[in-house]
Amino acid sequence: MANRPILVVAGIGTGAGTGASTARIFSKAGYRVALIARDASSLQTFATSLNESGGDAHAFPISSYTHSSIHDAFTAIKQHWSGANGKAEIRVAVWNTASGVFKPFLSVTEEEIKNSADINIVGAFAFSREVILTFKENGLDAKGKRGTLLFTGATASIRGNVLTSSFAAGKSGLRALSQSLAKEFGKENIHVAHAIIDGIILTGRTKAPRDSDWAENEDVRLNADSIAEAYLYLVNQDRSAWTWELDLRPAHEKW
Ligand SMILES: *[C@@H]1O[C@H](CO)[C@@H](O)[C@H](O)[C@H]1NC(C)=O
Repeated sequence: MANRPILVVAGIGTGAGTGASTARIFSKAGYRVALIARDASSLQTFATSLNESGGDAHAFPISSYTHSSIHDAFTAIKQHWSGANGKAEIRVAVWNTASGVFKPFLSVTEEEIKNSADINIVGAFAFSREVILTFKENGLDAKGKRGTLLFTGATASIRGNVLTSSFAAGKSGLRALSQSLAKEFGKENIHVAHAIIDGIILTGRTKAPRDSDWAENEDVRLNADSIAEAYLYLVNQDRSAWTWELDLRPAHEKW
């Protein structure tokens, strides 16, 4: 494919969750894939596995989600594909990075809340800034868009709970950012969407279950590949009827 757009995805985790599935599904759909995360060695392993399945993926590890690190990562991404045949434009960006502690309010430390704000909010601002600046340089695609910026949200994006003061504050901030960006940049044909993932995905890092049934019963979990398919659907929406917020949950939810 001569004209292969680039997907940038930040937040790959163990390679079993939403970020990794998004990278795989978009790679199969013909996208070049730029991977951003903090764990350089698992990121490299994952990029290699995408290449081995016929993709064109590259790892851009960063030490932290600061404005300067994220800016440097975007510079490196553009540089990496600058000699590619055909146009290699960043057309899709997914912010899947998250950080949270799940603790009673009085146990949350100052450092933990600062870390939540730094990753869930400040990091997302930095990522969005690079993405918006990049999209502004793109022409319109067949759907009438310059690009699509997606954010992975959670139950905590809209609902606080007994152990989620820090995580919910971060995720609510992220959701508010995504809505503000959707309003500000929709007029420039930049599509911004937020997906509330309301439920559990099985990954190596899955937190303590809300429900004892979750490990055995896949009907009460979300499949990360199915979330990624929903992201591809959002990207393929045209600008006459596009979604700002999607709510994904398993059919057999019990909450
Ligand atoms: C994957 O292949 C592409 C194209 O050949 C290359 O630019 C990239 O560095 C490779 N990535 C890895 C992780 O080997």
